[in-house]
Amino acid sequence: MFKSIGREASGQKCDAMDGLLKEADGLLEEAEGPALDMAMIGAAQAIEHYEISRYGTLREWAKQLGHEDAHTLLGSILDEEKAANSKLTSLAVETVNAPGKRKS
Ligand SMILES: [Fe+2]
Repeated sequence: MFKSIGREASGQKCDAMDGLLKEADGLLEEAEGPALDMAMIGAAQAIEHYEISRYGTLREWAKQLGHEDAHTLLGSILDEEKAANSKLTSLAVETVNAPGKRKS
């Protein structure tokens, strides 16, 4: 994507993602049994939601700036993030959080 806009890719620590990962670590230390499964899915979804927010924003900025290739690529990544979130939702609703279907 950076190539398509004529820029060098560079990295930067993401404080928000760092916080989400720390939160996940805390949940995983405290939870056990079925609650652990629920906590893992919830933590993963928090990360997916953050990614959806950021990729959605970046996709629209790319559009506004006339970077069509970047807009398309970011849209594809956004779709992948949404699909991952949807799978996690299905997993939670249909198995982990479903009474009678969860393993104890
Ligand atoms: Fe993701």
